[in-house]
Amino acid sequence: RVPVQVYPDSELASVAVARQIADLIRDRAAEGRPAVLGLATGSTPTRVYEELVRLHREEGLSFAGVVTFNLDEYFPMPPDSLQSYVRFMHEYLFDHIDIPAGSVHIPDGTVRPEDVSEYCRRYEEQIEQAGGIDLQLLGIGRTGHIGFNEPGSGAQSRTRLITLDHITRTDAASDFYGEENVPRRALTMGVGSILDARQIIMMAWGEGKAAVVKRTVEGEPTDSVPATYLQRHPAVQVVLDEAAAAELT
Ligand code: F6R
Repeated sequence: RVPVQVYPDSELASVAVARQIADLIRDRAAEGRPAVLGLATGSTPTRVYEELVRLHREEGLSFAGVVTFNLDEYFPMPPDSLQSYVRFMHEYLFDHIDIPAGSVHIPDGTVRPEDVSEYCRRYEEQIEQAGGIDLQLLGIGRTGHIGFNEPGSGAQSRTRLITLDHITRTDAASDFYGEENVPRRALTMGVGSILDARQIIMMAWGEGKAAVVKRTVEGEPTDSVPATYLQRHPAVQVVLDEAAAAELT
């Protein structure tokens, strides 16, 4: 089965993941090549980003040669909105490190509906032009989504506009001061786009994720739990705290 690493708590797990990212950045810098990171938002990776900021400030880790692609963004979503993933990424990471502004890519929640498919095609093309993603960070939703690939998303799906699952909108309700304010759609990299990354780290913390983690790691690959397709990736790691690992056999 896929390699699973269980840490006593999410703090220790996050520090270990940040160290792995830092090693990749330093290796690529030594080779004179950019490190291309695929990034996630939400509560799961925040401590990883804080640790990367600390490594930048205290240990001189430079992001000058790093290129990033975020997984997803609500749609529609102005970048300066409180809930935008643009704002999230700046708050937790980009405003505190030396990454060039032009190296950051986050799906644009202001694209006109008629331009969405062309925009998504361009997003994939930019990833390809950057040399592909070296390391993709993922959280997981209770629906089994990675990125915003909700149940029904196939293994070959690419960057596109999707409809958010009811459970996902419930989980986002507090961020939006009520479920009725949560956007119904989102732009997301596809399952296929995610599986193209050379290495993937999926993280999950807390008992609320234990059931979906079990299905992801031990269930048959299926569109109804898109995260199960991670089982097909040759270099995936599932990083958990004890609570999220509790239902694994
Ligand atoms: C966010 C993303 C989502 C989240 C997932 C878990 O960019 O791609 O798949 O990782 O919804 O969210 P949290 O971490 O808030 O539990």
